[in-house]
Amino acid sequence: MQVTAIVPAAGRGKRLGSTVPKQFIELEGKPVLMYSLEALDRIEEIQDIIISAHESEINTIQKLLSDFHIKKVVDVVQGGEERVQSVRNAFNRIGATDYVLIHDSVRPFITPGTVREVLAAGIAHGAAISAIPVTDTIKFADTNGVIVKNVNRRGLWLAQTPQVFKYNILAEAYRAYDKRPVDITDESGLVELTGVKVKIVAGSILNIKITREEDLILARLIAGMP
Ligand code: C5P
Repeated sequence: MQVTAIVPAAGRGKRLGSTVPKQFIELEGKPVLMYSLEALDRIEEIQDIIISAHESEINTIQKLLSDFHIKKVVDVVQGGEERVQSVRNAFNRIGATDYVLIHDSVRPFITPGTVREVLAAGIAHGAAISAIPVTDTIKFADTNGVIVKNVNRRGLWLAQTPQVFKYNILAEAYRAYDKRPVDITDESGLVELTGVKVKIVAGSILNIKITREEDLILARLIAGMP
């Protein structure tokens, strides 16, 4: 059984207001994206990894892969305008594989346990993602920031990565997307639209996505944990 990992790393980090895209910011002397790549590189169930990157950063990434002795990356492809396009560009480079595991380059704190659990669920169900249950109270507001209604949080989850799909299920989701493009921010969303049932695996709140300035404060604390 072959598992290919895709790591989208072509984001420009606009929301962080930093000149360095967030995947290259160093935590404890190591660029953010190398945390995920090292973790995925060590998981035996994953045979190869494809990264998508901004054109101007492909060489930087190639150098980091060599400096950090990452063995399984077979290609660094050019990303797209949106995350979904970046992942797809990497998907298009896959020759043959059975399962595709997608993980954001800006979620440095995945554990081998989470990766293996999502992979096992993906193999059992065809599609699985890591997610955490919503614990805050949810409000829906208008564009002026005035609350319109409460949203019951029962059954609500925050989607994370890793996300795992059987190759053919993801290929079918892309074919459907071509017929009817939708504004969706993860691959699970595309797969759900084809009617496939996606299994949730409860993840960890430490698997944060570095998006805003404050996330970096948390990331530095987590990276420094004993
Ligand atoms: O922008 P967002 O926080 O959703 O990014 C999630 C992941 O997708 C990051 O790893 C980022 O580098 C990647 N991304 C990408 N191509 C884009 C936008 C985001 O590969 N055009």
